[in-house]
Amino acid sequence: MSVIFDKNSKSFKLDTPGTSYVLEIIDGDYLVHRYYGARIPDTDLTYMHFKTNISSFFPNSPETNIPLGTQLLEYPTHGIGDFRASAVMIRGADGTATTDIRYVSHRIYKGKPVLEGLPSTYADENEAETLEIDAIDNHTGALVTLVYTAFAKHDAITKSVRVKNTSDKPFSLERIFSGCLDMPSSEYDLIHLWGHWAKERTPERTRLHHGKQSIESIRVSSGHQHNPFIALVSPNADEDMGDAYGFNLVYSSSFLIEAEVDSFGATRVLAGINPTDFSWCVNPGETFTAPELVMVYSDKGIGEMSRTFHRLYTNNLCRRQWKGIKRPILVNNWEGTYFDFDDEKLISIAKDAAELGIEMLVLDDGWFGTNRNNDDCDLGDWFVNEKKIRCGIKELARRIRELGLKFGLWFEPEMISPISKLYDELPDWCLHVDGRKCSPARRQYVLDYSRADVRDYIIDCMSKIIDEAELDYIKWDFNRNMTELGSALLTPAQQKELSHRYVLGVYEVMQRLLDKYPTLLIEGCSGGGGRFDAGMLYYAPQIWTSDDTDAIERIDIQYGTSFVYPASAMSAHLSASPNHQTRRATSFKTRGIVAMGGNFGYELDLNQLTDDEKEAVKKQISDYNKYQKLVQGGDLYRLISPFKNRLHSAWEYVSPDKSEALLTFVVMRREIYSRYYLVKLRGLDPEKLYRSSDDGRVYSGALLMNAGVNLCKDYTDGDSLIIHFTEVK
Ligand code: GLA
Repeated sequence: MSVIFDKNSKSFKLDTPGTSYVLEIIDGDYLVHRYYGARIPDTDLTYMHFKTNISSFFPNSPETNIPLGTQLLEYPTHGIGDFRASAVMIRGADGTATTDIRYVSHRIYKGKPVLEGLPSTYADENEAETLEIDAIDNHTGALVTLVYTAFAKHDAITKSVRVKNTSDKPFSLERIFSGCLDMPSSEYDLIHLWGHWAKERTPERTRLHHGKQSIESIRVSSGHQHNPFIALVSPNADEDMGDAYGFNLVYSSSFLIEAEVDSFGATRVLAGINPTDFSWCVNPGETFTAPELVMVYSDKGIGEMSRTFHRLYTNNLCRRQWKGIKRPILVNNWEGTYFDFDDEKLISIAKDAAELGIEMLVLDDGWFGTNRNNDDCDLGDWFVNEKKIRCGIKELARRIRELGLKFGLWFEPEMISPISKLYDELPDWCLHVDGRKCSPARRQYVLDYSRADVRDYIIDCMSKIIDEAELDYIKWDFNRNMTELGSALLTPAQQKELSHRYVLGVYEVMQRLLDKYPTLLIEGCSGGGGRFDAGMLYYAPQIWTSDDTDAIERIDIQYGTSFVYPASAMSAHLSASPNHQTRRATSFKTRGIVAMGGNFGYELDLNQLTDDEKEAVKKQISDYNKYQKLVQGGDLYRLISPFKNRLHSAWEYVSPDKSEALLTFVVMRREIYSRYYLVKLRGLDPEKLYRSSDDGRVYSGALLMNAGVNLCKDYTDGDSLIIHFTEVK
């Protein structure tokens, strides 16, 4: 890794092991973009200057002959001749929004800065180097600092932006994107992950076209509908070859990621806070920090792009406490009992769990308030319902721990039920607009996390329960998106800050809880995987991937999720069959094999298991304990996409030293005739010999990767197998 400034060409170059990124200061002190791609030795790329026959419709900059609208710009501003979407638009005290930032100075240093109040990847002095470039808009006094970090071990570059008001008058940020990438080509396909409840992160690939194509959220959550990620890939790119540029926001509120193809064949990517219903007032002396954008480039296809994200997030995003650490195998009572449980039932589940080798009991929704027997009421009343937990939470926790299990609880800390003690007492604590009715969703409203009193109350309530039950884990749920966005405490001008202030409040509460309880494991959740983003992952190193626990559906969902997020980020549980969401019956074995692709657990009533199933649980737990490190610390290769023919899917994990691999194969739908199932492995050492756990034979890595593993067997619908390959020396 290195970051250098070449005085002669006035160019900056950031290198990661396999990539380079070059930008340049041109006449007029504008910042232009020159290159992002495979690593190059050169720094001076001034020859790339772009000239076209100019028309009056592309105005020149006042000081130079350069029409900015024709250039690849590093951080384009509004109103000075570039008519593409701008990265920043600042409205000054005079009401005008022309923004014109010019280079002033820069710094290069080892390590990576913390983003004030925001989650971000982290790195120590040996892991990364940072470039900060100051550029000023003299009219408003806005000092814009572009922050770039290049990683030493990962082909990843992060971007973020700070804006300081150096004048004596306020201004407002009406657009403030985390990063822009202008690329001198539009020959790309765009991949994004769309979805809905119970069908999150479905990959979709389309050709770029002229104009704008975008994904976004205005939900004050990243949402089920579009993950804050896109990739631009060369048309020939597949898992193993071609160019793949990945862009992922470390942010959990309303976002916009946009690709715009202009009339010169260039593509502009912008990613950051969604400008819809957003602006932020920066008073004299104040600084605003935009969230982080992570960019990954691979010239070895989409698979390598994903593996880079996985390694980066495993090592440099996940909280240090849980980095590389196996998470407890849990049983969650939600699909086992729903709201219908009491302390005795929980203890009887815990007894079975302990006998089977499960490590933690998680008590889901329904343990609090006075009448939480359905989802109609009591959110906000975070005290124990002693009609259900008659022995009290402290005693319940003691009895669970006595069985050798850890204990975790479900919370939905950002919500308030209109039928609750909290709402009766403090109705203006929810997001609302005076004079308008609140639209309920799942019969609940949203607490106003922009308020310090709300945040303090929640920390206080949760701390009491965490202390009393000595909780090891909490499941942090979030089951609706925002409407009637308004806060009782903000001024009219500040209401446009609410969607960002809200998420800053959520991040603050999570951080304060983790500061207080450093070993607490938080699992994120939002109606399943509706807020599965890198911002949440910073605090909650695992997230409930989807409310759809059907193993066959989960293959699609985990496949799509793996485009960006590592196995250690996904929680995956074996649930009852027929499945509660799809009514599909799937074998115990396949349900287990699919769930082992994430943080493994059970989500059913263990008391209902047959003796055979109990034996199967013991075997699964022993398999999971054996393979977890390989799955969560190894490299993922997506061998057969479940979307390819909807018949079968295969994936593989390879240990970093290539001494072992785990192949998983699932027959999603049986065909009448057996067919050739020769699945070519990836990522092995061709020179090494590997023994297959399936037939005991020894194969060369070269053979397994070129001829493939023979998986031709007589399968039934939903059948599956895993094969462990271990090096023979
Ligand atoms: C959401 C979650 C589920 C469960 C329920 C409880 O839907 O995704 O896992 O916790 O809430 O109400």
